[in-house]
Amino acid sequence: MSRITRRDALAGTASLALAWPSAGLAQVGRPAIPFGSAAQIEPFRADPRYREALKTYCNVIVPMNDLKWEALRHDRSRFDFSGADELVAFARGNKQALRGHALLWGMALPPWAKEMSTKAEAERELISHIETVVDRYKGVIPTWDVVNEVIAHDPTLEEPYRDTIWQRLLGPEHIEIAFRTAAQIDPEARLVINDYDFEDTDPRIVRRRAAALSIIRDLRDKGIPVHGLGMQAHLYGERAIDTPGLQHFMQDLGTLGVDVEITELDVIDWKLPAVARERDSTAANLVSTFLNAVVPARQPKAIVTWGLSDRYSWIGETFARKDSAKARPLPLDEDYRPKPMMKVLDRYRLGTS
Ligand code: XIL
Repeated sequence: MSRITRRDALAGTASLALAWPSAGLAQVGRPAIPFGSAAQIEPFRADPRYREALKTYCNVIVPMNDLKWEALRHDRSRFDFSGADELVAFARGNKQALRGHALLWGMALPPWAKEMSTKAEAERELISHIETVVDRYKGVIPTWDVVNEVIAHDPTLEEPYRDTIWQRLLGPEHIEIAFRTAAQIDPEARLVINDYDFEDTDPRIVRRRAAALSIIRDLRDKGIPVHGLGMQAHLYGERAIDTPGLQHFMQDLGTLGVDVEITELDVIDWKLPAVARERDSTAANLVSTFLNAVVPARQPKAIVTWGLSDRYSWIGETFARKDSAKARPLPLDEDYRPKPMMKVLDRYRLGTS
């Protein structure tokens, strides 16, 4: 498939200015925040209602899996952009903005990449991967999750980095290599460090926020551009949101001059009661409390949910319930009807108060 031309790219950039139709609807007091969803290629291809929902609700689209190494680099010798290109074309056709997810991750790697064994090999592969992918979508994908989940699950001051093949072969430098390479290829791109578990009161979460700030500070001190922190925000139904902790975190990010984005919002409802109405209302309240903590303290550049409809979500498999009730993690139900969570999101999406 041919490379996206410079002219296409510029057309894409121009259309971004039109990509926020809701901005004009903003009402006094609360500006609209770009809202979108991750799009999964299988239902995108098979289910017209899924495509319609992406059109109706989103002004940002994120290919859910198709820009991951596993999809792009199944064969070591060639890149397969087919899935990503389909989603990118859809977004551009609808004048929706795009986020790229993700240039470096310790998971979703093809078998050959898991078998890399030397520093030189890892460095060569990482750099050429980022060069190729960022160059292809230059001017079309303006924001990248450059590194995903590089913070240790439970970090310490001595060991803030997650144990991945990149960390094992390259050490902490894997993060700077990724950011440096992305910036070199597309100096206009917004470069984001994306990670999970920043939201509740557990001491582990407090350590994760500190680790994120310290990694960002390190990059900054070395003159490496990092523009945003992506908070995945897979919120646990059974955990309380740490409002003061989040507000403080937002202030610290502000001091560093780093933006925030909500990148993978959904609710892990495995431990919530089975009754759908109760679950939906708890989930909506949780999302509301979370956004109330974050948005006034530092307005996110985007709010992105990890899917739109409960019909398709990773939560049911990854966080299996003990009963047989289907997971209800997202703002639309299985039949694409808006749930209470969508009402909460509407306040931000449409800028109403
Ligand atoms: C998940 C997808 O939703 C699934 O379809 C896939 O099988 C596995 O990955 N954190 C991330 C996302 O950064 O890329 C993950 O997405 C969910 C956790």
